[in-house]
Amino acid sequence: MQHSPHRRRLAGLLAGLLVLLAALAACGISAARPSAVRHPGKPEVDTRSVSSNDPRYHATWPQVRGAQPLTDALGAYVAAQVRRFVAEDGTRGGGTAAPELNINWRLVADDKAIVGVRLERYRFAGANGETSGHTWWYDRAAGRLRPNAALVTSPEALRDAVLAALQAPSADHDVDRGLVATSIAAGIGDLDLTTDGRLRIRFAQYEVAPGSSGVVTVVLDDAATRDLLTPFGLIARKAVAPSASASPSLPVTPPAPPVPPAPPAQNVDCRREKCIALTFDDGPVADTTRLLRILRREQVPATFFVLGQQVQMYPDTVARAARLGHEIGVHTWDHRQLTTLAPRRMLAELARTQQEVADVTGVRPTLFRPPYGASDRHVLRTAGRLGMAQVLWSIDTLDWKTLAVRPTVREVRRSARPGRIILMHDIHRTSVDAVPRVIKVLRTQGYRLVTVSQLLGAPQPGQSYSQR
Ligand code: NI
Repeated sequence: MQHSPHRRRLAGLLAGLLVLLAALAACGISAARPSAVRHPGKPEVDTRSVSSNDPRYHATWPQVRGAQPLTDALGAYVAAQVRRFVAEDGTRGGGTAAPELNINWRLVADDKAIVGVRLERYRFAGANGETSGHTWWYDRAAGRLRPNAALVTSPEALRDAVLAALQAPSADHDVDRGLVATSIAAGIGDLDLTTDGRLRIRFAQYEVAPGSSGVVTVVLDDAATRDLLTPFGLIARKAVAPSASASPSLPVTPPAPPVPPAPPAQNVDCRREKCIALTFDDGPVADTTRLLRILRREQVPATFFVLGQQVQMYPDTVARAARLGHEIGVHTWDHRQLTTLAPRRMLAELARTQQEVADVTGVRPTLFRPPYGASDRHVLRTAGRLGMAQVLWSIDTLDWKTLAVRPTVREVRRSARPGRIILMHDIHRTSVDAVPRVIKVLRTQGYRLVTVSQLLGAPQPGQSYSQR
């Protein structure tokens, strides 16, 4: 069939448009596609993080689109907790049992009417850890936060129902009923609903029972819940989010034997060449896509030590990083100091993250980096069992501390030596801002930028590496 001149012109235009789109994609301009997970019918959530290696803290909280007062309240809570931690424990040094603050989040309810977010705070003071939680409720229709108490008819009615539930034979007998009453009278801070619609109240570790009981959770039965819920509580119950686990559990199946990473795109012999490796910790976050664009433009491979919970949030970003030839290593699930964890939990932190990365990228990581660089022989042995080598760093740019481009670039210029591993964090926008200049400085000094596995040759599982 003959095409009319008009149709040919149209085809030409379309072809031109495609070429233009391809060109835009090549410059990364078309990356308007959001990297955050878009749950069907649910509001988009991005994460924010703050972290510091000295003193040791890491906090992540959600930024829920269309719920700015909620984001602000969560940010204010995190800031206050960090300030308090730094003032009280922040100067007590490093090692394998340094004080630590860790804050993580979970969406407990989420629909057009309401958003509920629970933050869990873990604080380790050098001997004992203490876990507590707080839940926030945001009323989308009213555009304001509502207290936990708004879910129930009255604090007294809730107290009576909780005390009754504690009389059940299955209840924790170490719980002090007087302390439960005192706690509820002082304010309801951690109230939500289970996925099957029952009210659940939690008390901080040590608050109503000995520390060995951990966080005390009381779930009311259907009848008690029905009697207690207010109209607002009913709205919250309708919006209850399926439980995404905040803390790692062990994978159901034992980890598969490690698969060697894909061969590097270009052959490089770092015994002959002047190599150096850029590494980025704590991501991925939304801004990681910008970093990937920069690295692609500069044709530079890097190594990302990712958190499992962030991989779950931004799987596309990690898959893309792997496709672009970057190396993906494990940085635990939720950035806990591994040396203070029980063996099972330590294994779960590494194994679950390794599995998550393998699921998303098709490549099982062979490298890991412990949060804060805190490691010991147990950590190394656990990593070895999973087929991973430990990678520390030789240049700490202190980007997490200065949060500025110039000192980050200056530290790289001053400390670059062949074979070194540079530590940066893609959670800070200033760190990403610094990357083009960091690359320029290193190239001017004659360095070849490579992945960690390229730099190390063949890193051995269970061994630790930090180059000079
Ligand atoms: Ni980290």
